[in-house]
Amino acid sequence: MDQLIIEGPTKLEGTVKVSAAKNAYLPILACVLLSPKPVHLKNLPKLRDIKTMMVLLKNLGVQISEKGEWTTFDASKVISQEATYDLVKTMRASILVLGPLLTRFKYAKVSLPGGCAIGARPIDIHLNNFAKLGAQINLEGGYVSAETDQLNGCSLVLSFPSVGATENILMGAILAKGRTIIENAALEPEIEDLGNFLIKMGAKIEGLGTSRIVVDGVPFDELKEVEYEAIGDRIEAATYIMAGLATKSTLTVKGFHTNHLEAVLTALSEMGAKIDRDEYEVTVYPSDLKGINIETSPYPGFPTDAQAQLMALTSQVEGVSIITENIFENRFMHVPELRRLGASIELKQKTAVIKGESHLKGAPIMCTDLRASAALVLAALASSGKTKIQRIYHLDRGYECLAEKLSQLGASIDREKNVPMS
Ligand code: UD1
Repeated sequence: MDQLIIEGPTKLEGTVKVSAAKNAYLPILACVLLSPKPVHLKNLPKLRDIKTMMVLLKNLGVQISEKGEWTTFDASKVISQEATYDLVKTMRASILVLGPLLTRFKYAKVSLPGGCAIGARPIDIHLNNFAKLGAQINLEGGYVSAETDQLNGCSLVLSFPSVGATENILMGAILAKGRTIIENAALEPEIEDLGNFLIKMGAKIEGLGTSRIVVDGVPFDELKEVEYEAIGDRIEAATYIMAGLATKSTLTVKGFHTNHLEAVLTALSEMGAKIDRDEYEVTVYPSDLKGINIETSPYPGFPTDAQAQLMALTSQVEGVSIITENIFENRFMHVPELRRLGASIELKQKTAVIKGESHLKGAPIMCTDLRASAALVLAALASSGKTKIQRIYHLDRGYECLAEKLSQLGASIDREKNVPMS
């Protein structure tokens, strides 16, 4: 297995461009299944989750070709409507093929998802609402199957603004008969991006960016060939911004809509961060930061996907910070690893209390999930001495060329390949 060796403490310097958002492209990739017309996607990030979704599509019969920065998908000869356990277990987002398959082929069978080990993560909101649209749902042998004669639009109120459920139902409603209204829809920018893609494909959607999305179903043959490029990755951006602050660096992060990171930038400013920003880039400067009290919540609140990185940062600032995780249970797996580097963190149920200004020292540590891994990298950059980070396949799920990007910013970071696990 590969591992990262980071020699710290380090200063970062220069400009880093974030990749296209994986969480925008995953549902867009699932949409490829909606239509037999070609879909052309620009700058797909080279990430394990994106590759997993592409293998899943190939297994269903989608033809995929690459030319320069464009990847073309042709779903005119889909041969299966079944997403099998071997792929779904590695990535929860595989469940997103359910809506497109069901609405186009009237049948879908998907293994119950796995993915990051951050809590139970059920899919009841997806399934209850597909049932309301007219699908018969069956759970058997670790699989969910859904079938219908025709999905029919209706008014839906999500019991929680789940990102994945909003996306899945939105995709399913595109070819449903009549009008679907999704109330209490999630507001994450990746959903608006998905909606913009679908509109380019020929879908009729209103209310994007609000909690009430209205979809008027269109006939299958009205969908068109489409070219699209997803938005920049706001979570990757947040990670680099916090890495800049944790290492007291002057660092510019570009390639994303800075207004998608409002809650993070506001929190960092409150902590005392010196930040310049325009529409698509943020520059941070060496700043004397203070602790913060923050809770994660659905967008536009502070994102759960930036919680671990913020915790690593707060270990380096003056005073006490309190971080409460409200979205996922069991999303504090970075805590024992950060403690191994010398961070002072106490856990009380869903709240972490971090005593700042710990002098972190390099040690062997282990990735446990995607964002926890990003926090460990950030802490390693601020630690003195050598940190060896194992199980970095978690990082490969969501951070494109992380070692290369950090190395270009001046970090001493090496990726050692095929190291036997210790
Ligand atoms: C997406 C993101 C993930 C992010 C999360 C929250 C993708 C591919 N992944 O995940 O990076 O951390 O949003 O911003 O975009 N829930 C239920 N029943 C359901 C669905 C969800 O109880 O049917 C619960 C989950 O267990 C969790 C919470 O709702 O506690 C949020 O989940 P959700 O918003 O669905 O997250 P994902 O779409 O899985």
